[in-house]
Amino acid sequence: MSKLIVGNWKMNGVSNDLLEISGIIKCADALANVDCGLCVPTTLLSRAVQLSGAFRFGGQDCHHNVNGAHTGCVSAEMLVDAGASMVILGHSERRADCYETNEDVCAKSIAATRAGLHSIICVGESGEQRDAGDAIRVVLEQLVSSLPNTATAQSVGVAYEPIWAIGTGRIPSTNDVYEMHTAIRRSLQERFSDDGLQMRILYGGSMNGDNAASLLAIENVDGGLIGGASLTAAKFQPILAAANAAAQ
Ligand code: PGA
Repeated sequence: MSKLIVGNWKMNGVSNDLLEISGIIKCADALANVDCGLCVPTTLLSRAVQLSGAFRFGGQDCHHNVNGAHTGCVSAEMLVDAGASMVILGHSERRADCYETNEDVCAKSIAATRAGLHSIICVGESGEQRDAGDAIRVVLEQLVSSLPNTATAQSVGVAYEPIWAIGTGRIPSTNDVYEMHTAIRRSLQERFSDDGLQMRILYGGSMNGDNAASLLAIENVDGGLIGGASLTAAKFQPILAAANAAAQ
């Protein structure tokens, strides 16, 4: 199966950066064996979509309702209307900044599926939880409560993002990634049978051109969710190339 590499632009990007997005689309188009997506700020979404009919764009959150009195929020249907095909849900920054719970994330994922969006549901432990030997328990608990019972391999993917690895340049050991992704796979398989085997499990947290090949070579690492290194075509390209090579 080809790897899925998704860029998470977070709260970065204005009109001038559409040129950079064009560069990223060109890099992805040149590689046959990688699935690529870019989750841009909502303000750029419809203009980014106009740059390419084939490239997949996404949002970074959605409300669980279709519409209504929710000032400042964006529904899954609105993201689809703007041309999105995927959405990141439950990122640790939203769990921390906006107090999103697993139950909120689950409701958002149901909404995303209703609208036809693929959800990338983020889970991950803090540094303290890892140091306390609690990482796998914490992540599996998030996983169970954040994914809806109706999730399928088509509607949902998971991103394991250790909070302490996000934007820090630190990554877990190969063995720690292997153990976590194996535990996530087992849990998904127990709950969703064949779909649980097919669901993509991405790794996220300081993935870059130097470490992508070794991270993507780990069993059950089906792709990556990339923050800082997705902001320019120059930094993103080596990750896409590593994913392309890993699929061959
Ligand atoms: P990073 O962010 O690649 O900058 O560590 C990843 C993420 O938060 O999705």
